[in-house]
Amino acid sequence: MKDGLGNVQSVLLLGGTSEIGLAIAHRLLGPRHASVVLAGRDQPGLKAAAQVLRDHGAGRVETIEFDALDTAGHDRVLEEAHRLVGDLDVVIVAFGLLGDQATDEAGGGGALLLASVNYVGSVSVCLAAARRLRAQGHGTIVVLSSVAGERVRKANYIYGSSKAGLDGFAQGLGDALQGSGVTVLIVRPGFVATKMTEGMTPPPLSTTADRVALATDQALRHGREMVWVPGALRYVMSVARHLPRPVFRRLKM
Ligand SMILES: NC(=O)c1ccc[n+]([C@@H]2O[C@H](COP(=O)([O-])OP(=O)(O)OC[C@H]3O[C@@H](n4cnc5c(N)ncnc54)[C@H](OP(=O)(O)O)[C@@H]3O)[C@@H](O)[C@H]2O)c1
Repeated sequence: MKDGLGNVQSVLLLGGTSEIGLAIAHRLLGPRHASVVLAGRDQPGLKAAAQVLRDHGAGRVETIEFDALDTAGHDRVLEEAHRLVGDLDVVIVAFGLLGDQATDEAGGGGALLLASVNYVGSVSVCLAAARRLRAQGHGTIVVLSSVAGERVRKANYIYGSSKAGLDGFAQGLGDALQGSGVTVLIVRPGFVATKMTEGMTPPPLSTTADRVALATDQALRHGREMVWVPGALRYVMSVARHLPRPVFRRLKM
């Protein structure tokens, strides 16, 4: 349960080695002795991230196994996190794959893997989180969407469509949870310099994991349902969204 000042007391990070997810966890936990559960596949990576959180003042920090593709195990992941730290104030859905579109278009299963992780895995674990948070009567699911899903571009339509699907799902889930005490915050970052985008040239309006974390923290404190990072992208994408397709497909973006 959040404290009297609205500070988060417990976080489950799904995608426990995600740079954006960890930046948000750091920001939310601050120097308070709040609890965090890092859930992911890379156990040594999770342990290292857990130590950094402890060094920065987190209270109880636990690591558990989570694979987005193991949908049958998702309810168990939520139950395990709850067993370890009690009620979960915030569940952050931060796992994902960017893929390589040229390679994935050529075959070999990369596109299906990306769709399974980014969309199917997210739908499955968001529903498990919603069931868990409904049972405790409060909490927020933070979903890492992307501007890439607002208008899907030919240059990254495999990734972009997975985020478009996830974003629409998260909006519907948030609406369905109205009145339950549980909320959904959709975070739509632009390009963020992390290991996911390593080696890529940052486009205009690119941002950092820390800025995404700050915007997420502020959005949570104000009870918002959506946040763009940086905020200016909202207006850029509103124009892009309404461009006629023959014009949009000719843009080099
Ligand atoms: N970076 C950007 O420009 C950007 C922009 C907008 C939105 N986003 C979104 O923000 C989220 C976090 O991205 P990031 O930049 O922090 O990327 P990141 O540092 O590369 O983290 C990606 C995370 O996804 C996890 N993951 C991949 N496949 C998984 C699976 N099958 N099961 C469980 N976890 C899995 C990775 O775990 P392993 O360590 O086990 O591989 C890693 O923790 C993603 O959803 C991404 O799409 C990123």
